[in-house]
Amino acid sequence: MSGDARKAAEGLGHLSGFGNEHSSEAVPGALPEGRNSPQRAPLGLYAEQLSGTAFTEPRAHNRRSWLYRIRPSAAHPAFTRTGNGAIRSAPFNQTVPDPNRLRWNPLPAPDGGTDFLAGLWTLGGNGDVTQRVGMAVHLYHANASMDRVFSDADGELLIVPERGGLLLRTEFGLLHAEPGHIALIPRGVRFRVELPDGAARGYVCENYGAAFRLPELGPIGANGLANARDFRAPVAAYEDVEGPVEVVNKFCGNLWSATYDHSPLDVVAWHGNYVPYTYDLRRFNVLGTISYDHPDPSVFTVLTAPSDTPGVAGVDFVVFAPRWLVGEDTFRPPYFHRNVMSEYMGLIEGAYDAKAEGFVPGGGSLHTMMSAHGPDRETFEKASAAELRPQKIDDGLAFMFETRWPVSLTPQAARAEHLQQHYDDVWQGLERHFRTL
Ligand SMILES: [Fe+2]
Repeated sequence: MSGDARKAAEGLGHLSGFGNEHSSEAVPGALPEGRNSPQRAPLGLYAEQLSGTAFTEPRAHNRRSWLYRIRPSAAHPAFTRTGNGAIRSAPFNQTVPDPNRLRWNPLPAPDGGTDFLAGLWTLGGNGDVTQRVGMAVHLYHANASMDRVFSDADGELLIVPERGGLLLRTEFGLLHAEPGHIALIPRGVRFRVELPDGAARGYVCENYGAAFRLPELGPIGANGLANARDFRAPVAAYEDVEGPVEVVNKFCGNLWSATYDHSPLDVVAWHGNYVPYTYDLRRFNVLGTISYDHPDPSVFTVLTAPSDTPGVAGVDFVVFAPRWLVGEDTFRPPYFHRNVMSEYMGLIEGAYDAKAEGFVPGGGSLHTMMSAHGPDRETFEKASAAELRPQKIDDGLAFMFETRWPVSLTPQAARAEHLQQHYDDVWQGLERHFRTL
């Protein structure tokens, strides 16, 4: 790694708006002035456009970046199929869709030498990768840094670390993601995951559809929820490495591998709006009631990936962050509900205020389309009898991938040893209290 790359690892730039142009150069003078593709790019670099949207999509949604690199991406040998490990892709049609409420304990520890890619394990999802519709829920548990490079043509990867930090070496530069942060790698962007803290585990939403963006704020106004200025893009950093490098490409559900004679992380400068980024979930500006009732959890949306129906997300990423509860005459934990959307929830740290036990960091629950769920008996009884003073919820960080389509399981998730067998029991003992006056 060059000295410039080491330096860049310490400083991160601001991604001040998703539609805005950003730029970074690891070497002064590497970015061309005034044109994207001059006859001769500066410093003998190759100019290359990376398009994350169709050329013709509306300006507000259009995303592309220009990369100035030592070799063009086209300079590579043929890819050949390699094993998919525990990664599965849509369509998820190997199990019968299950209407039951389901909950898993954390992934078991993998064998030694398991890198991020080998440690990815698919729980389920929906849609179809060849149609660029739907999403997948993955978990990862890794204990070795990657010495190969990965890219996903099937979708963007929203990574939610739960244990152990990640150093993401991307074509655009370096990003650090600690537990409590999220990292997003756009579709097709090459990257390598290193584990500076040793073993790491967490969650990944693979979004096959339109890219995640900030939700509209409507009557909330110009500020609140996730503020654009808190998203961080990498500072350009490049590897000038000759020698064999394995590059793995996920394409239409399968992994393909090629051995390059150089590192493809050789981008010296870039500009554009199609970039990886990180975000610290603790910076989320939580909004809620200051009178009675509480809003639907959509008010906790960090990022939304719209579908072709306005207001109906292909997938939303929602965080349940520390917050004050002050509602009067209000059942304060999440209420009982049935939802046309399907909800996969995970826990990054601490506890979640709708469950007394069994929902643990690294584990997850799935409440799919129209399944009835909500607080367990213990939580219901406590919240129903609580004296409603202002209360700070500050002992947990939970999140949700909420999708418009049912989540079907992979066979490995349906039969997993870490699938809890008696999750329904948390709603046992909710006694009848009905009486006529
Ligand atoms: Fe729910």
